[in-house]
Amino acid sequence: MSASIPYTPEELTQRGLQSERLPRHVAIIMDGNGRWAQQRGLPRIEGHRRGVESVRRVVEECGRLSLDQLTLYCFSSENWKRPPLELDLLMNLLRWYVVAERNEIMRQDIRFTTIGRRDRLSPAIRSEVDQTIEMSRDNQGLTLCLALDYGARMEMVEAVRDIASKAARGELSPSEIEEATISDHLYTAGMPDPDLVIRTAGEMRISNFLLWQISYSELWVTSDPWPDFREAQLYAALREYGQRQRRFGGLNESK
Ligand code: IPE
Ligand code: IPE
Ligand code: MG
Repeated sequence: MSASIPYTPEELTQRGLQSERLPRHVAIIMDGNGRWAQQRGLPRIEGHRRGVESVRRVVEECGRLSLDQLTLYCFSSENWKRPPLELDLLMNLLRWYVVAERNEIMRQDIRFTTIGRRDRLSPAIRSEVDQTIEMSRDNQGLTLCLALDYGARMEMVEAVRDIASKAARGELSPSEIEEATISDHLYTAGMPDPDLVIRTAGEMRISNFLLWQISYSELWVTSDPWPDFREAQLYAALREYGQRQRRFGGLNESK
């Protein structure tokens, strides 16, 4: 089996897209799984299960579009407040996904990685996640980054602790602390900032996702819940992104 073949410029045009107007890094707040299930009289976990199919479709499509990175908000630090049964089922689904997707990750030449706290995930999940990261480390295609037990405020607290420790040890003087110092101490060190943030299920909020990194990201929200998210919604977001004028505080598109 070979990696999915990237779209040609003609194939992009057929989809209403142009490669030079595509984002490099797309980040998605995958919301609305529970509501999708409840509307159908199903248990919430069925929404999460069906959401995995959306993940597969979007990952493959982002690879074919030759994007650099896709970051998916899978589980927030605040999601631990959910009932134990939902947490149990979600963690099982997560573990199953990182194992079951290995063949596809390798076939599609995806570099798998994660951001978030590690210490509260079970050792079994951590070990499966680490195996998938290790196995795909040298892949050259899309970087797929799962935000697991991720919270932006906690990420900043950890970064500040690290920086303060270095300052206390005399390795860094406070006057040397710059924006790059902070970026380099976040979980996302070395990753490009998201160009486009997509949220499904209609909520107009960020829910503690990548607060530092999305300072100048474009936002796109659909009312469709994550289990219904398919290529059509992704293209709609990308087409609109292609029309946006990013100014970064200036007067034209230059950074
Ligand atoms: C998103 O769907 C997935 C996670 C947060 C794990 P939700 O479970 O939040 O679904 P809704 O928002 O309750 O519909
Ligand atoms: C955001 O969704 C977190 C994830 C998608 C993992 P939530 O469902 O947790 O967000 P709120 O609680 O509605 O803000
Ligand atoms: Mg939700």
